[in-house]
Amino acid sequence: MVQPLAAEIDRDHRFPQEAIEAATESGLMGVLIPREYGGAGLDALAFAICIEELAQACASTAVIVDVHTSVGTEPILLFGDEEQKRRWLPLLASGRLLGAFALSEPASGSDAASLKTTARRGGDGYVLNGTKVFITNIGHAGLYVVFARTGPDERAAGVSAFLVPADTPGLRVGQIFHKMGLHGSPTGELVLEDARVPAANRLGGEGEGFTIAMRALDSGRIGISGQALGIAQAAVDEARALMRERGHGQGDDFSLADMAARVESARLLAYHAAWLCGRGRRFTCEASMSKLHATDTAMQVALDTLQIAGDDGAAAGSPFERHVRDAKALQIYEGSNQVQRVVIARELLLG
Ligand code: CAA
Repeated sequence: MVQPLAAEIDRDHRFPQEAIEAATESGLMGVLIPREYGGAGLDALAFAICIEELAQACASTAVIVDVHTSVGTEPILLFGDEEQKRRWLPLLASGRLLGAFALSEPASGSDAASLKTTARRGGDGYVLNGTKVFITNIGHAGLYVVFARTGPDERAAGVSAFLVPADTPGLRVGQIFHKMGLHGSPTGELVLEDARVPAANRLGGEGEGFTIAMRALDSGRIGISGQALGIAQAAVDEARALMRERGHGQGDDFSLADMAARVESARLLAYHAAWLCGRGRRFTCEASMSKLHATDTAMQVALDTLQIAGDDGAAAGSPFERHVRDAKALQIYEGSNQVQRVVIARELLLG
């Protein structure tokens, strides 16, 4: 039911409510959440495959579910105390709350540790002030994982993580960004003006926030790899169908073969990173390699299949041009592909 909506969602820039409801009914909102908290209790590999399948149908729907499931929920799974897990995970697993992740700021994107949002102690909790940008699921999320500075240290050691419900007074949605692709996935600013949260909403200890963000992004990058694989596979399948229908020369045959081989290699890298993650092994390097390779593959495959489709592929409303527009953001979000190279090189040289 998701795939037939993809073109219309893209054209109308609308949130795919019915697709998210279908994902909820299928249990996709709680894939990684243990059964005792209402989820499916599956592992990172199952998660990657779910996102890949969804993205093959609709890339916007996939990123909404992906961000909710990984960076929007996993920090609670991995770093929450028992009370936080019992309070939030069943709501997230059942889709009654959509999750979101608020790390980036206007002057702090790739250099995440330079974030400026503050969380000052006040009463029995914290008062948050600052602006977060490029927030996936903005306006639809019921719970934001927000990173803010609690300590005097100006880098990573001063950062803490907070669970901030969307109805918190002082929290508001700012500017909504209009993107070249992923039109069904809302992205925008989250503004915090004296937003108060109780101390019980701090995730982990004071100063532990940056580690929480980095760990969440490690597995988030497996989800983005799944999204990239879905877009790339959809593009290859559509090109193959077109070639069968209208005939094909050796030039297009070679292009199809290269694309199929590249997508399969990206798939194996992603599944390997997910497998390591699911077994509790180190996977930071593999997740970044996977994100780099899968998203570059999706972009190139989207361009190459558009070339095969020709004029028809470039026409507005064609799936080929939509895949090109959708694929681009994947090379940028959850750590640009330059950041992935930083992570990989560090792991190789220092790890
Ligand atoms: N897992 C756990 N902890 C980690 C870690 C990891 N993968 N990577 C780093 N850390 C810890 C380190 O151990 C260190 O802790 P100690 O000081 O206690 O040892 C601390 O974090 C600081 O680490 P670094 O010194 O490596 O930090 P850095 O400032 O050099 O980080 C960087 C550099 C890796 C490039 C990092 O800034 C980064 O990943 N930037 C990209 C941020 C990003 O991906 N943003 C995407 C936002 S979400 C989005 O796109 C949209 C959305 O809605 C989802």
